[in-house]
Amino acid sequence: MRLKNKVALISGGANGVKNELMGFGGACAWKFVQEGAKVVIADIDTVNGQKTVDQIKEEKGQVEFIKLDVTKDSDWKAAVNFAVHTFDQLDILVNCAGTASVERVEETTEDIWDAQMDVHAKGAFLGTQAVIPIMIKQGQGSIIHLSSINGLIGSQSSTAYHAAKGAVRLLAKNTAMQYAKDGIRVNSVHPGYADTPLTKPLFADEDALALRLNKVPLGRVGTADEIANGIIYLASDESSFVTGSELVIDGGMTAQ
Ligand SMILES: NC(=O)c1ccc[n+]([C@@H]2O[C@H](COP(=O)([O-])OP(=O)(O)OC[C@H]3O[C@@H](n4cnc5c(N)ncnc54)[C@H](O)[C@@H]3O)[C@@H](O)[C@H]2O)c1
Repeated sequence: MRLKNKVALISGGANGVKNELMGFGGACAWKFVQEGAKVVIADIDTVNGQKTVDQIKEEKGQVEFIKLDVTKDSDWKAAVNFAVHTFDQLDILVNCAGTASVERVEETTEDIWDAQMDVHAKGAFLGTQAVIPIMIKQGQGSIIHLSSINGLIGSQSSTAYHAAKGAVRLLAKNTAMQYAKDGIRVNSVHPGYADTPLTKPLFADEDALALRLNKVPLGRVGTADEIANGIIYLASDESSFVTGSELVIDGGMTAQ
């Protein structure tokens, strides 16, 4: 029960349907509940979000769903109010919402750039802004942003995604500096290649997957559970001296 008496809001947590490939947020929702937390899943995908919530409730988990478009300030305010109204407090924000972009610099249109910046950088910023007043009032909180190895290093593609994930990394550090005195910890997580609904189409091409795996010392892609395990650590009091840090979970890829 590492998250006993804690309430978590998980953006991008809709992909947690049993016996289907789960995303990081979906895997977190299940694990958080098992660790004693009450959870609000917030996602633009209402179908999978509601299905995940129904299934977790069947196993007696305390969980609710609310629709959230992370690019909209009013949605964030509503989601945070809903979490506090439903479960009386809000201790943890896990910001998992995201989409992929693969284009190189010359192929990246202004629309692609804006969409990536909106969902990752602006989404993380608006979420942070929405939870900070409540966490200040409570005197504690843990904010966890999903960046990526692509927020640490460059590659041959995915220009706007890299830039947006880099922004998320520094947003976490900057927020950590501003609110350490209020007992709020803010960290970023940097997964490497992991099997989720987001990457399924990218990994379907076996040659492209083999090229990726060549770069991973552990020689395989990660699972959503392996990323969720790191997120639980940052969400729990076990990480009480950890803020402004980067948790890299990438099979060793960025160590070389
Ligand atoms: N899978 C990987 O290899 C990998 C690696 C590094 C980082 N990441 C990042 O981890 C996070 C989670 O991704 P995942 O791989 O678990 O995939 P996922 O598809 O399960 O998660 C993304 C979720 O974000 C939701 N979403 C998309 N746009 C949204 C919006 N505007 N508002 C609210 N929700 C929205 C989707 O509906 C989906 O449920 C993403 O930020 C992704 O960029 C993934």
